[in-house]
Amino acid sequence: MKLVRPGPEHLPGYCAALQRGWSPDNVRGAVAAQEMLQRITEDAEGFLALAHDPEARGPAVTLPDGTQRPRIPSLTRWMWDEAGDEGGFVGSIGLRWTPPGTPLPPHVLGHIGYAVVPWKQRQGHATHALALMLRLAREQGLGHVEITTDPDNLASQRVIIANEGVLIERFDKGAAYGHLPGLRYRIAIE
Ligand SMILES: CC(C)(COP(=O)(O)OP(=O)(O)OC[C@H]1O[C@@H](n2cnc3c(N)ncnc32)[C@H](O)[C@@H]1OP(=O)(O)O)[C@@H](O)C(=O)NCCC(=O)NCCS
Repeated sequence: MKLVRPGPEHLPGYCAALQRGWSPDNVRGAVAAQEMLQRITEDAEGFLALAHDPEARGPAVTLPDGTQRPRIPSLTRWMWDEAGDEGGFVGSIGLRWTPPGTPLPPHVLGHIGYAVVPWKQRQGHATHALALMLRLAREQGLGHVEITTDPDNLASQRVIIANEGVLIERFDKGAAYGHLPGLRYRIAIE
């Protein structure tokens, strides 16, 4: 499995996963998946451009409560496995960041988020993808990343711990996320 910068050649596999009911958005779920299919139909080029947005040129982001916030720099990569059965698309992983020394805005739940399609889970893909994404974070000059997860998401916690993540705190995700609890981990980047 490798990480690819999303391109037109990857769209059929990505759309097929969305149509099977998978969503790369762990918070907004199926609603976000439908919005993505719509955007790809209307403007595939613009959709792909957003997957590589280190200067935060894209539009505002919508939070689960419907409020919008300015976008911060971000990269999305797709996990891709040419040799895999059921097509090459495996999942999605994203990195977002702020200038060195500045904290993430409170509504941004961590530097890195990821999701693997259910039919390719438990094969080590998320663990490997996070290791690869940490290299991209280093290229962006980050000295550490924070990753947040739900207290009951044991799979995600194992992915983080396998990449030397250390639990920092349990926290309140804030009003935009219904004040749900979260766990915040930190991974130092050598
Ligand atoms: C979390 C997620 C990305 C893990 O993807 P994955 O490719 O299956 O993860 P891996 O195969 O690398 O497995 C990592 C570890 O989690 C364990 N694991 C995987 N699925 C699990 C599950 N449902 N329950 C308990 N443990 C699980 C694996 O056994 C492995 O443990 P090990 O390292 O001790 O062997 C995937 O379950 C997913 O997409 N979930 C929905 C989206 C999500 O929660 N994203 C994270 C938000 S912070």
